[in-house]
Amino acid sequence: MKEPFYVTTPIYYPSGKFHLGTAYTTTVVDAIKRYKKLQGYDAYMLTGMDEHGQKIQTKAEEAGKTPQEYVDKIAEDAKVLWKKMHIDYDYFMRTTNPLHEEAVQIIFDRLMEQGDIYKGEYEGLYCMPCETYYTPTQLVDGKCPECGREVVPMKEEAYFFNMKKYADRLLKYYDEHPDFIKPEYRKTEMINNFIKPGLEDLCVSRTTFDWGVKVLKDPKHVVYVWLDALTNYITALGYPNEEKEMFKKYWPASLHVIGKDIARFHLIYWPIFLMALDLPLPKQIYVHNHIMMKDGKMSKSKGNVIYPEALIERYGLDATRYFLLKEIPYTQDGLFTPEEFVERFNYDLCNDLGNLLNRTVSMVNKYFDGIVPEYNGTPNEVDNELEEFTKKQIKAVDEKMLNIEIANALTEIWTLISRTNKYIDETMPWSLAKEENIEKLSSCIYHLIENLRQIAILLTPFMPDTAEDIFRQIGIKEENQKNWNSLENYKILQNIKVIEKGEPLFMRLDAEEEINYIKNCMQ
Ligand code: ME8
Repeated sequence: MKEPFYVTTPIYYPSGKFHLGTAYTTTVVDAIKRYKKLQGYDAYMLTGMDEHGQKIQTKAEEAGKTPQEYVDKIAEDAKVLWKKMHIDYDYFMRTTNPLHEEAVQIIFDRLMEQGDIYKGEYEGLYCMPCETYYTPTQLVDGKCPECGREVVPMKEEAYFFNMKKYADRLLKYYDEHPDFIKPEYRKTEMINNFIKPGLEDLCVSRTTFDWGVKVLKDPKHVVYVWLDALTNYITALGYPNEEKEMFKKYWPASLHVIGKDIARFHLIYWPIFLMALDLPLPKQIYVHNHIMMKDGKMSKSKGNVIYPEALIERYGLDATRYFLLKEIPYTQDGLFTPEEFVERFNYDLCNDLGNLLNRTVSMVNKYFDGIVPEYNGTPNEVDNELEEFTKKQIKAVDEKMLNIEIANALTEIWTLISRTNKYIDETMPWSLAKEENIEKLSSCIYHLIENLRQIAILLTPFMPDTAEDIFRQIGIKEENQKNWNSLENYKILQNIKVIEKGEPLFMRLDAEEEINYIKNCMQ
């Protein structure tokens, strides 16, 4: 096995049912984990829930529950959803886990002891839903720059983290580690918007509510949710015990995946907390953009929220995963529209992928009684060209995945699918059969099965069920014909029998009917 690869999602706020946006981050991380696992890495995925803070306390009160009861129920629902979405996480972290709480107390205490955290008084403009203080200059039109809601003036005795002390060290780190932040423009944003104007010390405790981790030496204070939450990435591995096997093996993390709204916390505060704790920084942080609706952000008040379950139940898991992973470009927000969902389903999944499989399986049955002819060693120019093209696409997919360009990696796979469909039109197997050119026909059919096998391998991390279905239909059973190392090897198939009658991977949708259906699902 190759080296460890530790990848994390943010831990989600249990502020309600998880929507498509939450499902997006999780699916991206799942696909990355599966991709690394496929390549032989010792991949470990962390997800979980961020359960403390005033917002949660208020939500629980509204629901007539204790905060613990409230978060317990949502944690259960979240696990059901991740199971439904085949999310292959290894550990589900909850910040109400007593081991985590104790670790947060130890961390806070240590930072206080060494003088990074000091006591002062906070007066500022507070956004309740975001649990964040802002200075007047950070506001947008007098409102919270993150969520656009009203901010209220607040004053409290509080502890502060001395961010200023670490600002230069952070800039130097950014400079010396060009791959630390992806895409790179997020780094520029941090420098220009927050670090260059002068990093403010961060208020890291609250006294206005008590649903949180109490400061060990001053229990009327609870630790600020972000300090509590960010440390989950290390407490999940056993920190503060640095001798724990898991910690030694997986820290520093290979990759944190986060959405753009929480970039500041992960790209500035988290690295600085780690520097203060004298720990190595994660190797990379990838900031993704958001799924937007035609009328802007998904929000209940606009009635435009879509839940993943609605799509999965009607169109299947892999169609939903495909749409999610394909829809957010690397440097822009993605747009969810029912029209686009149905179009992708019909074109990409039914026409391109589904037809390639269907045509191939039926030709193996028609011309060779279902038995795939063996590699005959005399491939012609078109076959050679297909082999070369496939190798090039495999490299392209890998390059995109290394750069965490998920949607672009899928585009490269679909380029390969289209090229393979075109190969059928170029070689015209039906004419070869008519001419009884068995040598060329055998080579053509062999190459089609091979390409489908390699396409299925490439699809495994993104659409695991579909990949298995393709393997089953084309008769690939051996694990060593489904793994990464068997890619680019065109000579390994022998005694392969396809199923007697191909089964459609995806059934074509009636566009109008389904667009209306999805519109009705929006709440
Ligand atoms: O931020 N499209 O939790 P959260 C894509 N608890 N991603 C979206 C999205 C959308 N429309 N809406 C939200 C928190 N997200 C903290 C994290 S980590 C130490 C603490 C993403 O549940 C969002 O960008 O509000 C974020 O990365 C994730 O969902 C969790 O958001």
